[in-house]
Amino acid sequence: MPEMRFSQSVSARLDGGVLVVTINNPPVNVLSAHVRAGLIAALDHAADAPNIVGLVISGTGRAFIGGADIKEFGKPPVVPMLPQVIDRIEAFEKPTICAVNGVALGGGCEVVLACHGRIAGEAASFGLPEVKLGIVPGAGGTQRLPRLIGTVAAIDLIGTGRAVKAGEAVALGLADAVAADPLAAAVTAVRDNAGGALRRTGNIDVPAADPEAVSAAEAKVIARSRGQSAPAEAVRLVKAAAGLSLEQGLAEERATFLRLRDSEESAALRHVFFAERAAGKVEALADIAPRPIETVGIVGTGLMGSGIAVSALTSGYRVIALEQTPEAAESGRERIAGILDKAVQSRRMTAEGREACLARLEATAEIKALETTDLVVEAVFDDLSVKTELFRRLDGIVAPGAILATNTSYLNPDAIATATADPSRVVGLHFFSPANVMRLVEVVDCARTAPEVLASVLAFVKRLGKLAIICGVTEGFIGNRVFSAYRREAEFMLEDGALPQEIDAALEGYGFPMGIFAVNDMAGLEIAWARRKRLAATRDPAVRYVEIADRLCEAGRLGRKNGLGWYAYPDGARTVDPAVTAVIEAARAEKNIAPRAFTKDEIIARLLKAMVEEGTALLAEGVAARPGDIDLVMINGYGFPAHKGGPMFSVGQNTEGTI
Ligand code: 3HC
Repeated sequence: MPEMRFSQSVSARLDGGVLVVTINNPPVNVLSAHVRAGLIAALDHAADAPNIVGLVISGTGRAFIGGADIKEFGKPPVVPMLPQVIDRIEAFEKPTICAVNGVALGGGCEVVLACHGRIAGEAASFGLPEVKLGIVPGAGGTQRLPRLIGTVAAIDLIGTGRAVKAGEAVALGLADAVAADPLAAAVTAVRDNAGGALRRTGNIDVPAADPEAVSAAEAKVIARSRGQSAPAEAVRLVKAAAGLSLEQGLAEERATFLRLRDSEESAALRHVFFAERAAGKVEALADIAPRPIETVGIVGTGLMGSGIAVSALTSGYRVIALEQTPEAAESGRERIAGILDKAVQSRRMTAEGREACLARLEATAEIKALETTDLVVEAVFDDLSVKTELFRRLDGIVAPGAILATNTSYLNPDAIATATADPSRVVGLHFFSPANVMRLVEVVDCARTAPEVLASVLAFVKRLGKLAIICGVTEGFIGNRVFSAYRREAEFMLEDGALPQEIDAALEGYGFPMGIFAVNDMAGLEIAWARRKRLAATRDPAVRYVEIADRLCEAGRLGRKNGLGWYAYPDGARTVDPAVTAVIEAARAEKNIAPRAFTKDEIIARLLKAMVEEGTALLAEGVAARPGDIDLVMINGYGFPAHKGGPMFSVGQNTEGTI
């Protein structure tokens, strides 16, 4: 039987009376207008053909359907709209069963829910991640999912946007079965159902739910939504499904979807989505094959080094961790094992997974052991002479093709590279602490870094499941430069009349998990203090300098760990301390500054302006390639709320093609 074509992306073949419809819209089969039109045409064809007993819907490649086409948002609507396609599938008179070969997300999952049966392949995953884009499902997800899996589980899935794999989908009732060959299983299921009563999800009553469990599930979603509105709206719609007809529920859902789709929150989160996809792409590297990396050396097993080691081990790498003495190597091994233990305790890892990781770990005090590594990441004390000496030694030990990466936060990696005979193999990999948790890695493209080396570390960071942002050499790289500018502005405002708790409250109200002074207390004040003392001799006396932080450090207030910093921490709880207010007032008096009141909006506006000015300078200097890269650094490294899109987005500096 020849292939039938229903649109540029939808084709079908007949398999003994079953029309097997395939969506082929690379890379992830999103529901573009031609896919929707093709599906309707396939249904029309099947409806009119007496020899067709039913349909199977499947996708090609790694996706079943990746969701609605986000690039269509904000453009004039093109019929058929997705809800129309989905209603037609559910109402279809012949069994329509999906063979879910890969990801079924958003609108893709909504297609799944509308089918009369659902067979998952082993690579299938299902999710309604719309809240991550600041919207709610807009084609029946909030109304059909609770009918299939109950209100509590639906609140969890839709409210968090979390995807589930095939096994969990079956356990929840979202899929009927897992099959090694989902297409064949779906064809059989269509034949078995032909002529029988069809199971339409919309006709199922939402199962009764325990109100306490519903409240608990809702509270969990709201607690992690950090001021975003979509999760709460999604929960409201899921809860409403039990009391509304399908038609009423769908109308309410669609109205909410359209309202949120046009919101600033959704525009910001879509910007973040596309900025992330753009971040890893470097045109100049497109044709360069990364070097294979299997064995990673990590020098230093302190907080940072052990976090990097865990991240590499859990991503399948072999790790050789180097310390100065056998005892330190053994403590490093224990620290790494301890992090893995915690992952097992919190069920993020199985005991077997932990064993497999530890089997790939060697902790040693013999630098020669690094000769078999493909990449060495240095995470030792941030001191130029320590690092240059280390790189000089590493350069003579590792193979000629091996890459040397420094995790320095403030030193110049070009200066470190000069210690090697081949600076083209040196690159910066600035991880954020704790490195096994934090997603961001600033990849520092040094003056002499070879393109192949850059491509290789980008692939490495990707395999770690982290987000790589490329940046040029500058003191503090993108993140610490913007952070310093923003911190400086916050301290100017202290002198001008705001108090730490007022600035922190404004930031937390804006969506930061913690205000800047609370963050500084958590990180400890002494490193920045030491740096200020180092720079004191060369500081331009004409440039405004706020001494309040120095006064606090001199008074022994070094942050949370000694119970006193910008706040006091009696019993661990953050508390305003009149002693800090007194230091601030004294500093203002010394400079004859008459304090004035600041509104929350004013505080935010001044801090954003400081971040944007620094970001603009980074772009002008060529240190950062795109405004979106700066946004991603601030969101993933410094707690900037994703639903505000990042500092550059917040003032209208958009990434091309975002909305
Ligand atoms: N719309 C438009 N483009 C999309 C897209 C979408 N829904 N999903 C992915 N893409 C694009 C990406 O921008 C990227 O394009 P590029 O190559 O030009 O940069 C390309 O597809 C590949 O994406 P990834 O690099 O992310 O590929 P991965 O294999 O790593 O991941 C994925 C695939 C898991 C599908 C991931 O892309 C993803 O999570 N996509 C978003 C899924 C989503 O949020 N769907 C819901 C959409 S909203 C919706 O459906 C509303 C409905 O309820 C009405």
